[in-house]
Amino acid sequence: MEPALKPVTKALLWVALCCVPASVAQETGLRRVEFGRDVVPILLERCLGCHQESKPKGRYRMDSVAQLRLAGRSGEAPIVPGDPGSSSWMRWITSPDPEERMPKDGPPLTSDEVFRIRSWILGGAVMEGTGGDAALAAWLPRGTGGVAPVEYRHPVPISALAFSADGAELAIGAFREVLVVDARDGAPRRRLPGLPDRITALQWSPDGAALAVAAGNPGRLGEAVLLRATDGSLRTWLRGGADSLTALRFSPDGSRIAVGGADGVVTVHDAVSGMRQLVLPAHSDWVLSLAWSGDGKRLVSASRDRTVRVADSSSGEAVSSFTEHGAAVFAAEFNEDATRVASTGKDRRLRVWEVAGSDSKTVANFGDVELTAMASVAAGVVTAGTDGVVRLHPWKSIQKPREYRAEGRATAVAGVGVGERVAGGYHDGRVRVWSTADGSRLAEFRPFPGLD
Ligand code: HEC
Repeated sequence: MEPALKPVTKALLWVALCCVPASVAQETGLRRVEFGRDVVPILLERCLGCHQESKPKGRYRMDSVAQLRLAGRSGEAPIVPGDPGSSSWMRWITSPDPEERMPKDGPPLTSDEVFRIRSWILGGAVMEGTGGDAALAAWLPRGTGGVAPVEYRHPVPISALAFSADGAELAIGAFREVLVVDARDGAPRRRLPGLPDRITALQWSPDGAALAVAAGNPGRLGEAVLLRATDGSLRTWLRGGADSLTALRFSPDGSRIAVGGADGVVTVHDAVSGMRQLVLPAHSDWVLSLAWSGDGKRLVSASRDRTVRVADSSSGEAVSSFTEHGAAVFAAEFNEDATRVASTGKDRRLRVWEVAGSDSKTVANFGDVELTAMASVAAGVVTAGTDGVVRLHPWKSIQKPREYRAEGRATAVAGVGVGERVAGGYHDGRVRVWSTADGSRLAEFRPFPGLD
């Protein structure tokens, strides 16, 4: 339903809309608010955890669009199209009383979020698309309207790679999809499509049932989701918005998941409901990797802002920060008892430093090679070198890695178990797997359908 505007006013609005640059339009509120793009991410991230079938607080459910419109215990209409003043939502989300305000027990929505919801209701609460019973997440602008190629004509640089917990399968980031292959020979198993262009991070849940995926098109769209490993259907929506998501990691027990973005923000979510539990103080540039300590109490984040930070994973408080790279930091991992961190960056050094204290110093370092990615195994860390070498660095002698050589530029890396096997993903789309026991190459393949 559209508010009744006089034709002249309408015409003026139309002029304003078409002739104002997008950024200005957004600032002045002239940009049309779209339900899927602008409103659904807020609801999924900040509301759904308490208002779904398993936990309908206030007897109000938001897990489908049909339910969103039905009153809960109060009997008041949550959304009255065109009339924010009569919509109970507006009262709940803007209440000055923190006891009453939604999201209950959490930080209030930002003024931009409130503004988007208000503008959407004012504009008639239009829900483009159909199917009132569909899950709320189905309204997200997924895959940016693009679909994964049926057959690839060119290989894609491998940007993310992960072994399943039992080591039988490898998940590989491709174009708008994740490819799951047999880790022994690269034989195709499944395709999990419907994602933004570039897959930036991948991890299997500890129980093997789900794959966590971060993906995005920088500056346009980002999404972090848990997909069912069997068929790629959406299990849990974690976070999304107008910029790429760039890092993600499960806590060791699988109950929580940390997500980092190009906006520098690290969030921690409940891995079942997707509900946001914590927001860490933002880095000033992209978060490029995240890792948890073995006891789940600490989180380390590496950023393009040249810093690595260790934070308490319950309170979000800073524990330690490391600035010696003096350049973008690509990855960081904890050692077994989380007393040390190994990190690597644009400065071409793999550095090891003590977590204690606020001015952590390098205690050991390796190399003059750009190491673009890192994975953790019990024996140490595995790195991907732009010289084509995948290295396994034992914690005790970081400077003396075991090397697995190949042509090209390694861009992603994965290890399994205590480090029996390591895999490297390459810029030319190749994936290679080695046995660390004898250094033999077990497999080499390009995973893309249509290419061999
Ligand atoms: C941590 C849990 C939690 C979160 C998160 C949360 N709510 Fe609630 N919500 C509640 C509880 C509890 C009630 C019942 C409160 C009462 O009746 O006083 C409630 C009640 C409501 C009601 C009233 C239903 C009715 O008709 O009685 C609305 C509307 C609502 N919430 C909307 C939201 C929105 C919108 C968000 C996200 C911005 C949100 N909630 C996030 C816990 C939550």
